[in-house]
Amino acid sequence: MTEVANHQNDGWCILVDKSIASLIHERLKDGDYINEVFVIKDLGQMVAIPVKHPDIISGLKWFDDESLQFSQIKLEIKKLTKTPAQELVTNIEKLLSKNSIILTPEMASYLPKKWELLGDLALVPSDVLNSEEWYIIRSKNETLYQEIWQEIANSLRVSRIARQSEIAKDKLRSSQVKMIIGDSGEVEFTDNGVKFWLDVTKVMFSSGNVTERHRIGEIDMTGEIVVDAFSGIGYYTLPMLVRSNAKHIYACELNPNSINALTKGAELNAVSNKLTILEGDNQITLQSLSNIADRVHLGILPSSENTWQLAVDCLKQSGGIIHIHMNIREKEINSFVDYCLEQLKQYAAQRDFNTIQLQHVEKVKWYAPHIRHIVIDVSIS
Ligand SMILES: C[S@@+](CC[C@H](N)C(=O)[O-])C[C@H]1O[C@@H](n2cnc3c(N)ncnc32)[C@H](O)[C@@H]1O
Repeated sequence: MTEVANHQNDGWCILVDKSIASLIHERLKDGDYINEVFVIKDLGQMVAIPVKHPDIISGLKWFDDESLQFSQIKLEIKKLTKTPAQELVTNIEKLLSKNSIILTPEMASYLPKKWELLGDLALVPSDVLNSEEWYIIRSKNETLYQEIWQEIANSLRVSRIARQSEIAKDKLRSSQVKMIIGDSGEVEFTDNGVKFWLDVTKVMFSSGNVTERHRIGEIDMTGEIVVDAFSGIGYYTLPMLVRSNAKHIYACELNPNSINALTKGAELNAVSNKLTILEGDNQITLQSLSNIADRVHLGILPSSENTWQLAVDCLKQSGGIIHIHMNIREKEINSFVDYCLEQLKQYAAQRDFNTIQLQHVEKVKWYAPHIRHIVIDVSIS
């Protein structure tokens, strides 16, 4: 009862027959007479449109007092929901004003607008508080600067904050994330029923691939032996084990930090007995996996081309499926797919496979302007 009373209030409205309600609503909106504080109320055959300035409306040319009637009734108040990013700006504004500082639009543009939530840790972009004005605040008042970060953590409802920097262009895709609040970058989180573990300061996390992770996890791999040639922390390996029900996965990975994360992720999901990790360069490790797989996953960008032949060699003599990740210009996708199939055909011929079939091309995300991250699913037998 109390709750209803809290969310309702008396307000002026026009009672109007439903048959002409949208027309009247449009006219009221044009003149800016709708009272946006309240929700429109359904009264059966009639609706109550909340309005401002009933005295002015009644004098308008189109107003017909035979079909339209003013009334003051209990109306539901709209929930004024701010996005977490807007809430954060308000909170920082308040904190700064207590210190007689005005949050300028320029400064506000360096507050987080997006972030990754990984358990109780928020990973914010590299530009956050990275501007001249924020540096000045820091140089004058380090305590306030720390309070600002703490307020960001409070507003995002996390206990730890880490700030992104560019992912290293090295082969290991090392992370260059710095902890801002909290000491440890170790996180455990669940995505689509799969548990992941990583240390954000040691390995990169590519959340942009979430749709692809889910798509791969939807494929039924019951009974299949899978080779994941670039397993990382298990972005695809773990969904294939947990959701796709793969029988066994051979995961190739160079980076000891990623291997550590994959090992922990497998333990968390209780699938360690279905996983063999091959540490080292997959140009070598894949050679030990020839003729064993029903499926090979090549999840590396910008190109996985140097593993295509090795992947074909991993397939069982009965054949299987290869998932090929690639960055490619949007307008070159079709010609690239043709090229890819042609290359695979040549490698397949050396194994006496004779059917190469394109199953699907998944457009995962825009990697850069005009450049798409795509995944080509090919069946070979
Ligand atoms: C893009 S990352 C993570 C992979 C994950 N499949 C994804 O797309 O999110 C690629 C991974 O491949 C590993 N890697 C790169 N080159 C490799 C190689 N030659 N042999 C084995 N692993 C390699 C990197 O260490 C990294 O963990």
